Amino acid sequence: MAAPPPAWNRSPAPFAELFSAEVIAARVAEIGAQITAEYAPLSQTTDVVVIGVLKGSVMFLADLVRHIGVPIFMDFIGISSYGDATVSSGVVRITQDLSRPIEGKHVIIVEDIVDTGHTVHYLMENLATRRPASIKLCSLLHKPDRAERQIEIDYLGFTIPNKFVVGYGLDVSQQYRNLPFIGYVQGV
Ligand code: IMP
Repeated sequence: MAAPPPAWNRSPAPFAELFSAEVIAARVAEIGAQITAEYAPLSQTTDVVVIGVLKGSVMFLADLVRHIGVPIFMDFIGISSYGDATVSSGVVRITQDLSRPIEGKHVIIVEDIVDTGHTVHYLMENLATRRPASIKLCSLLHKPDRAERQIEIDYLGFTIPNKFVVGYGLDVSQQYRNLPFIGYVQGV
């Protein structure tokens, strides 16, 4: 017997689609091209490390690096800010550290979303103490209405309104990360 359809295809769908898989793919390709152009000279002399922030950036990172046409290293860092709630506590901690030092290297942090900005603010301050050659921030999404910290995003996918979104790596209570699109959860 055939497996039941994925939950998000059951009717009525609990999501309102915001960005389709095709729209995301096109934007990710553009960002990859921009990073390629900017890092082509730098990468000839200095290592470039692309750091994915677990777990939300995994899909974005995996797609993005395949559009980066210069040599890179990949690493991951685990950050906890919310637990399972949808409201920022402002309390951030590292749950899994990088596997290698970043001293003297060009670092690109890849995030899923900058919401209040607490997570990225903490992360950039922490990584700066490790004396990389440079740090830039790449975020797929930005919710400027929620900003509590002034964050400069060097490479941004999309600006979104103040609604809770899921899919393409983003979760609510650890669910829906595997949706191929990004959507609002109805009723959240
Ligand atoms: P910030 O510290 O408030 O900027 O929150 C950043 C983190 O909160 C992100 O890396 C996400 O894990 C999570 N987050 C914030 N907004 C959303 C959302 O709309 N959907 C899913 N996760 C979110």
